[in-house]
Amino acid sequence: MKILVTGGTGFLGSHTVVELLNKENEVVIIDNFSNSKKEVLEKIKQITNKNFLFYEGDIRDKVLLKKIFTENKIETVIHFAGYKAVGESVTAPLKYYDNNLISTIYLLEAMKEANCKNIVFSSSATVYGKPKTLPIKEDFPLHTTNPYGTTKKMIEEILKDFSKANPDFSITILRYFNPIGAHPSGLIGENPNGVPNNLMPYIIKVATKELEYLNIFGNDYDTKDKTGVRDFIHVVDLAKGHSKACEKIEKGVHIYNLGSGKGYSVLELVSIFEKVTKIKIPYKIKKRREGDIAACYADPTLAYKKLNWKAEKSIEDMCKDAYLYAKKNK
Ligand code: WQD
Repeated sequence: MKILVTGGTGFLGSHTVVELLNKENEVVIIDNFSNSKKEVLEKIKQITNKNFLFYEGDIRDKVLLKKIFTENKIETVIHFAGYKAVGESVTAPLKYYDNNLISTIYLLEAMKEANCKNIVFSSSATVYGKPKTLPIKEDFPLHTTNPYGTTKKMIEEILKDFSKANPDFSITILRYFNPIGAHPSGLIGENPNGVPNNLMPYIIKVATKELEYLNIFGNDYDTKDKTGVRDFIHVVDLAKGHSKACEKIEKGVHIYNLGSGKGYSVLELVSIFEKVTKIKIPYKIKKRREGDIAACYADPTLAYKKLNWKAEKSIEDMCKDAYLYAKKNK
């Protein structure tokens, strides 16, 4: 199958491209390197020993989109490209609405014009907001508390309306929980441009002595050890979920949670990381981070039933692979 991957050099995109190539798909990437680096292209080749096409640019560039769909018979699009920093979205909401929404609308227009009828969209568990009960199922009510999450929820609405008007399209929405880790080769991993937002990149910065200690935001939550609980999932498992979604083309809109189904607290992740890497991670308890929820983890059974997918890698694998990548890419 010939698959266009938008944002294909990013953390999730690059790992997904590797899995797609491993499954003998033809891959075309479009990326503007707004949150990734050019050398990822070479690393993907090194891991897979396979070729793929690459177009540098922004998917808001209608001329470039038309060129890609004219030069390639794209069967399916996996749409990762988008800004994803919760904090930045609060201070620069229009940047997020413009980039995440407009790019998706232009992409759908280009797909329709090219008669490309299959899209897999990168959504996020953040659309659930603060769940009333756990684990979270796909039919839970949606409620977002920041512009980044709201763009994901709005794009899901756009896709549902687009599906009503174009019933022969297959639209798969994948809601990720907390992707961490790296490819076991250590060649690709989580390497955000600028200041990181998420927990694991900060743990890594402490482990590589770039930071003296980790800030733990809040130890007064109603959880097992009073720190935040999240559903961490290995990025390679997540990538495999996308490959499975491409194999399951069904008309209409289909929504799946991609999570491990297990909740680990911040303190638990820190202590597992220390055990796996034999590195002490000093930390300081700070006040809660604005917008954080206490606990969030998935009920991933629908993805297992319909996509024949479930997360297989352990939390220890996630810590080991994340640290190996950091060591290799100092
Ligand atoms: C996890 C836990 C923090 C940093 C967000 C997005 C989600 C997805 C993943 C894109 C929380 C605590 C964090 C730190 C800490 N992104 N923490 N010290 O907020 O669950 O999810 O990123 O798709 O959509 O919402 O992830 O890693 O930022 O935080 O104590 O330095 O770690 O308070 O409890 P989050 P996170």
